[in-house]
Amino acid sequence: MKKLIQLTVNDREVEIAVEPNMTLTDLIRYEIGLTGTKKGCETGDCGACTVLLNGLPVNSCLVLAVQANGCTVETIEGLETEDGLHPVQDAFVEHGAIQCGFCSPGMILSAKHLLDKNPNPDESEIRAGIAGNLCRCTGYQKIIDAIKSV
Ligand code: FES
Ligand code: FES
Repeated sequence: MKKLIQLTVNDREVEIAVEPNMTLTDLIRYEIGLTGTKKGCETGDCGACTVLLNGLPVNSCLVLAVQANGCTVETIEGLETEDGLHPVQDAFVEHGAIQCGFCSPGMILSAKHLLDKNPNPDESEIRAGIAGNLCRCTGYQKIIDAIKSV
């Protein structure tokens, strides 16, 4: 039986009835229509589905939509403002830290979380901050350079 949940997604109040086994990834992508959150492994290994749940990065494929009841969720679509892209997004573009782009939403949200709590991380802290996000394209160095530049 579906359960009614309420959550805030990118400052927008959402009230929706969901199946008890629906993941937060599927809620975000297929019910709310925010497809920036990617589905990769769906087993918690790749980080492509990373969103900020109450400010903390989570693999949304491992979170049930019902567990997000009453929570705030920030997805990649929430970073851009009327002033433009978030500085982390700009830095990824400027440093060539995006190739196919599949990892980028999750990677950028993890980087944003890292920089929000530690504005001047050293390289090992940056590597630790994005350890849960896999990238098949960039070799990571351009991503690290981008985060360092912010
Ligand atoms: S799709 Fe969630 S961790 Fe890979
Ligand atoms: S840019 Fe392709 S997986 Fe990271």
